[in-house]
Amino acid sequence: MAVAQTLPLDPARLRKDFPILSTVLHGDKPLVYLDNAATTQRPRAVIDTLVDTYEKHYANVHRGIHWLSDQSTDLYEEAREKVRRFIGAPQRHEVIFTTGTTGAINMVARSWGDANVGPGDEILLTLMEHHSNIVPWHQLAERTGCRVCFAPIDDDGLLQLDALDELITDKTRLVAVASVSNVLGTINPVAEIVRRAHAAGALVLVDAAQSVPHEPTDVASLGADFVAFSGHKMLGPSGVGVLWGREALLDAMPPFLGGGSMIRRVRLDGFEPADLPAKFEAGTPPIVSAIGMGTAIDYLTAIGLDRIHAYEQMLTARAHEQLEALGGVHILGPAPEHKGGIVSFTVERIHAHDVAQLLDRHGVAIRAGHHCAMPLHKRLGITASSRASFYFYNTPEEIDVLVEALRAAKRLFRRD
Ligand SMILES: Cc1ncc(COP(=O)(O)O)c(C=O)c1O
Repeated sequence: MAVAQTLPLDPARLRKDFPILSTVLHGDKPLVYLDNAATTQRPRAVIDTLVDTYEKHYANVHRGIHWLSDQSTDLYEEAREKVRRFIGAPQRHEVIFTTGTTGAINMVARSWGDANVGPGDEILLTLMEHHSNIVPWHQLAERTGCRVCFAPIDDDGLLQLDALDELITDKTRLVAVASVSNVLGTINPVAEIVRRAHAAGALVLVDAAQSVPHEPTDVASLGADFVAFSGHKMLGPSGVGVLWGREALLDAMPPFLGGGSMIRRVRLDGFEPADLPAKFEAGTPPIVSAIGMGTAIDYLTAIGLDRIHAYEQMLTARAHEQLEALGGVHILGPAPEHKGGIVSFTVERIHAHDVAQLLDRHGVAIRAGHHCAMPLHKRLGITASSRASFYFYNTPEEIDVLVEALRAAKRLFRRD
């Protein structure tokens, strides 16, 4: 494994593991899937795990005193351990399975927020957040009277770190920041943000939806207090994600949802919550999805997150170079060395939706719109953009197809 991981990764070989990537559409157009920031595809190993679990190991977890329930409970808890190792969490019970990044952030906003935030307190976000890391804090403000503030970005799409020291004050209770912007691709200096926030006594939540799938993550060295991410953006099934939190914080937080599994005892006049992680996993959890996410983690680990990150940066640099050479295409965000595998752009006088539709004729799947980041688009002075987002199974040749399809779109609009 160690030797294999020093070699460049081989997308042609890896692509064979993904049945959907051999799709041919519109008669003769091979699918060029460049919508990985929205969701990735699944390798055969993950699909097989789902089938195998349903066929051989499925029952509800933590409940039945029978053989099958023991099997599914063991697999579910094994998946939790895989997540723990993957993100370098100190304790397995700090890993809470949620419905996704959105579910994880809402859990913190409701549980930690309602218990710890009051009128006059501040939650500091950045202008490049996904709506999942904005709306739960607006809702918290409606419930508690706290204020939601935004750290600015510069014209290159980099966070203005200088402004942070003024914005993080003794009123700041939490800084919630994306590790990688889902539009700009900007990689934010999370460890530095954590240092400044902690110095002022504020906690830090990292929306890691766009980083955990693409680069090594070590929550211990990151120093953050909460980290949220989604299984479906890292080869796993939809419907499952993770909230990691520090044990002491999670222990002190009240449960979010109430119901089965999250209790130690229920009386006519109240209840006692269970210990971690059950306290935050009310009801039947996403059992099979979590087990599938465990297989996705095995797959990613075998390739190596360092290699995935380096490879995607190569693809991003190639996309920048070719799109810039095309003319009339404006790339959002900073230079490739500050980015993950996300390249958003606007095309002069062609609306983003038209761009996406025209590319689809060439088999190229990209995303168009505001990408759940309306405040960011407003800051950039636009209402929509087109986004190509890469994963390790994309090839340099697919970037060429993207660029040629864009050239054809411009020609069609007679704007080349
Ligand atoms: C940065 C970021 N945060 C949060 C989310 C929401 O993730 P989910 O829909 O899996 O909850 C996304 C999804 O695109 C994202 O890119």
